[in-house]
Formats: sequence, C-alpha cells, structure tokens
Amino acid sequence: MGKIAVVGSINIDYFIETDRLPKLGETVLGKSFFISLGGKGANQAVAASRLGGEVSLFGSIGDDENSKVLKEKMEKEEVDLSYIHTVKDTPSGAAFIELCNSDNRILVVPGANKNTDVSYINRVVSELLSYDVTLFQLETPIEMIEHIVPILYDHGKTIILNPAPARKMKTEIIEKITYLTPNEHEFEMVLNSKDQMVDCLRKYPNKLIITCGTKGVAYFNGEKCINVPVVKVEAVDTTGAGDTFSGAFAVAISEGKNLFDSIQFGNAAAGLSVTKKGAQAGMPYRKEVDSLMKERLDHESK
Ligand code: RIB
Ligand code: NA
Repeated sequence: MGKIAVVGSINIDYFIETDRLPKLGETVLGKSFFISLGGKGANQAVAASRLGGEVSLFGSIGDDENSKVLKEKMEKEEVDLSYIHTVKDTPSGAAFIELCNSDNRILVVPGANKNTDVSYINRVVSELLSYDVTLFQLETPIEMIEHIVPILYDHGKTIILNPAPARKMKTEIIEKITYLTPNEHEFEMVLNSKDQMVDCLRKYPNKLIITCGTKGVAYFNGEKCINVPVVKVEAVDTTGAGDTFSGAFAVAISEGKNLFDSIQFGNAAAGLSVTKKGAQAGMPYRKEVDSLMKERLDHESK
C-alpha cells in the first residue's frame, strides 16, 4: 500500500443549524450550534485515515486556542502531523457554516492556511517526495500547488487535486495532475471552459472525474463516458461529502485499485458521510464501507 500525503487546509468549523437563512440585515433564531474540526485538507486526511490509509497532513495552524483543539482532534484520528507548521501571532483557519435543510453555505477565513505557501513546501519537499500519492485542494495558496506539482510529476508521483473552492487552473498544471475531481459546479471555472460536461470529460480521459451529487460520478475512459452511481441515503448534512470522496478515492488509488473501483469506493464512503451532521462526524471507517460495497455486490448478483 502506498503512503498518502494530504497538503491542505485545517479549519475550526462553527456550525449553525437553522430552518431559514437570514437575509442581509435580518436576524433569525437558529436551532443549534456546534464546533468541530474541518478544513478540506484535514477532512480529506481524516477520511483517508479512517479508511485505513497511511496518511500525513502537510499544512499550517495558528497559535491561538483553536489550534490546540485542532491538533488534539487530528492526533486522535491517527493522522501524522510531523510536518504541520505552527504560525506565530496568527489565528488558525475558521469556517462559518450555516446548515439549512441538509444543505449548507460556508464562509472560510484562511488564517494560518495562507502560510502553506511556496516557502513552506520548499522546506518539506524532500519529505513530501517520500509519499506515493499527494492530495491537494484549493484552500491553500494556488502558487504553492503550481510550484510543487511539476516537481512531484517529474518524480513520477500520483497527484490528486480536488479543486475546491473552484479557481482557474493553468493548463500546464492540469496536464501534470493525475486525477482532477471537481464537482458539476466547479469544472467550468477550473478548466476555464464553456464546453458541455461530456466534451470536457473527453478532453481528459481517465483524469477528469466530475462528481455530480446524487447523480453519480462521471469520467471518460478513452472509449466512452462512464457514470458511477452513488449510494442512496437519507442526507442529513452534505458538508464534507466531497472531502470524504477525495480521501477515500486516494486510499483506493494508493492500494492499486483501478479507476472505476476507486470511484465506487469513494462514492460509498461519501454516501455514508452525509448521514450525520458535521464534516467529519459521518466519515465512515473501513469496515462500514467494505460491508456496504459487499451488500451492493450481493444485491447485484441476485
Ligand atoms: O468541505 C467542507 C469544509 O469546507 C469545511 O470543513 C470547512 O472548514 C471548509 O473548509
Ligand atoms: Na456530514
């Protein structure tokens, strides 16, 4: 099994649950409030670790009260934190998440995540090169990703980018990424394209993997477009579903599974994750995903 490096953001998530979102200037009484560990990088690392991946998280936290909580929670998840940079006089990243009818709205303040930059990645580059699979998102400076992707590529590493929140990526960087996993709302912006989804998929065979919520996950296998269906569940909170998919997908790829099976594994994990509130609370453990996959296989063979 290959080792996984997640390079990305670490946030403290402040969740507010409400039946109705306030308009600008309005006050609405919410239903509940809770705090949890989040950030797309940390979420993906936790998802991968729970599924049996050997994971290190590369990123930055501040030196505020929140950073202690974040570190403790990540340690419990058996994510290796040897390369986490603590930034002085800076708050850790924070996300303000409004949960309304199983959907969400998120405002993120990067804080220390801004320091996961080119100079940080240069300091840890030799360690990073000892990993087989590297997973990125776009809550850390994009210049850092543009700088390190060609280096990883030259060393023959597997590179996965979950381009969220969506930003325009340079074509020469996209070419060096092994798997790109935008959702149906992100791919046009990321690829800077006005093409239909099918035309985009055909341009990047076995690389571009578009997640379409309950409609499944699509890619082009060189011959035809494939849709990998999702597991039907009762969604309580979709926060972190994309992160669970990415973390699970990285684990499957690190185990040498083929693309179809890796997407299916990601779908099963993401499906289970939305059944609980919070980005990480619903992230499944390996045996839950394995038994769900087995159930499906048994069902299909009947
Ligand atoms: O993808 C969900 C995550 O986005 C949350 O945990 C929040 O921290 C934001 O980064
Ligand atoms: Na959830």
